[in-house]
Amino acid sequence: AILVSRRVKSRRKWNRMVGVLGEFEEGCSTSIGRLRQVVDAMDVEMHAGLASEGGSKLKMLLTFIDNLPNGNEKGNYYALDLGGTNFRILRLQLGDERSMILRHDVEQPIPPALMTSTSEDLFDFIASSLEQFVEREANSSDLPLVKRRELGFTFSFPVKQTSVSSGILIKWTKGFSIEDMVGKDVAECLQQAMIKRGLDMRVAALRKDEALKFNLNLVKAIEEITIHVYVNDTVGTLALGHYHDEDTVAAVIIGTGTNACYVERTDAIIKCQGLLTNSGGMVVNMEWGNFWSSHLPRTSYDVDLDTDSPNPNDQARGFEKMISGMYLGDIVRRVILSMSHELDIFGDVASSLLVPFILRTPLMAVMHEDDSPDLREVARILKDTLKIPDVPLKVRKLIVKVCDVVTRRAARLAAAGIVGILKKIGRDGSSGIMSGRTKNGGESSGKMRRTVVAIEGGLYVRYSMFREYLNEAVAEILGEEIAPHVILRVSEDGSGIGAALLAASHSSPSVDSVS
Ligand code: GLC
Repeated sequence: AILVSRRVKSRRKWNRMVGVLGEFEEGCSTSIGRLRQVVDAMDVEMHAGLASEGGSKLKMLLTFIDNLPNGNEKGNYYALDLGGTNFRILRLQLGDERSMILRHDVEQPIPPALMTSTSEDLFDFIASSLEQFVEREANSSDLPLVKRRELGFTFSFPVKQTSVSSGILIKWTKGFSIEDMVGKDVAECLQQAMIKRGLDMRVAALRKDEALKFNLNLVKAIEEITIHVYVNDTVGTLALGHYHDEDTVAAVIIGTGTNACYVERTDAIIKCQGLLTNSGGMVVNMEWGNFWSSHLPRTSYDVDLDTDSPNPNDQARGFEKMISGMYLGDIVRRVILSMSHELDIFGDVASSLLVPFILRTPLMAVMHEDDSPDLREVARILKDTLKIPDVPLKVRKLIVKVCDVVTRRAARLAAAGIVGILKKIGRDGSSGIMSGRTKNGGESSGKMRRTVVAIEGGLYVRYSMFREYLNEAVAEILGEEIAPHVILRVSEDGSGIGAALLAASHSSPSVDSVS
């Protein structure tokens, strides 16, 4: 009788644990109907964000980029790329052929202490890395020496720009939180740090017109001057996408954070009336991490995650915490924790399950994609990272399922976001099949216009299940008639390379209109 009662108890516990998962799965539902509601909400919020400052959770920031690289750029250009996790410096040698991007780059993780330190420390790190890079180059005999250094700076945070080369940090996102930097001009911080280091880029933040004003020894000044182009990483990605394929109209990043930008008609940017550009268009940085709609499938785990995040109540209800690499692993941890309350196998050893962000998204991806029959990788990660040894196979299977639910929801929501942008610019087919330019520039009446969206970021590039779910959902929402005309194209390393390309296209006459 004791044995039977134990068996009954353990079955009950098991059922409760499965129940926790079932409830979570239900809360994460992304049916096609719900995705369509998210598409519509994104479109509506985009309009609202363009209509007035603060009109929407979507900031719809102007970038002042009104022309994109087209493949004709030539010369040597530099890029600094400060992302959510890594910092890179690269130099591009642009040749005659579009495909001739030769680059020399260094990449290093941003020391975590700097993410919460002072703006001075952060920019000193950037300037000193640049100094070492330039010195190394000067000592290397196989690189042509350049007198004129032009630089694009990718700063992957929400910046309210006032020109293509200046702007103020609105707030930090991802793992960063440096109080004294908010409200400061990013260009000026970089310039000050360079001056302190005595870099011969000290006139760097001046633009050509300003150099003229300063009545500097003109020839010298212009020879040495560096044009700063400040871009969000999405804008860099769009630039590289457009460099390779001129039908590229939008770019999306799904990495540590998530965001998108696209080319908007200036007359549709109502909050900024009288905005004139040569092309009639401008790239808009949406900051879609902050998007919120009541149609988003939010669970109690998402609410708790927000409370423990470095930016609580900030982008709290938004996309970012449901989609990006910074958070997915932690949602999984929270669900496993809740399941562990129902089953003894996790025992007291599971205290590591209480540590926020202990399960990083790359490890979660490894568990999700473990195709060994006995889920060996899952067992290893549970043991090594979460300190839970000997988890039975049937429980490991449930854990893989948790990863699947979290990733599928994230990928499908990102897909709805992409279609939302396409809807806003009339490329989702909802206003009928349009006539438009073919790839060769000819008119193709009655045909849907070819539309390319550049994508970058570890989740999409390196997590194949995520990528598959996203691609599948875009096709599902668009339907089989429209989907073949929309191409999602990886624009690898676009954030950095694109910034250098923009420095190039903003300094040479060989530019192309973005309209
Ligand atoms: C965060 C930042 C945004 C960036 C994105 C991807 O959402 O706020 O500016 O583009 O991460 O790195």
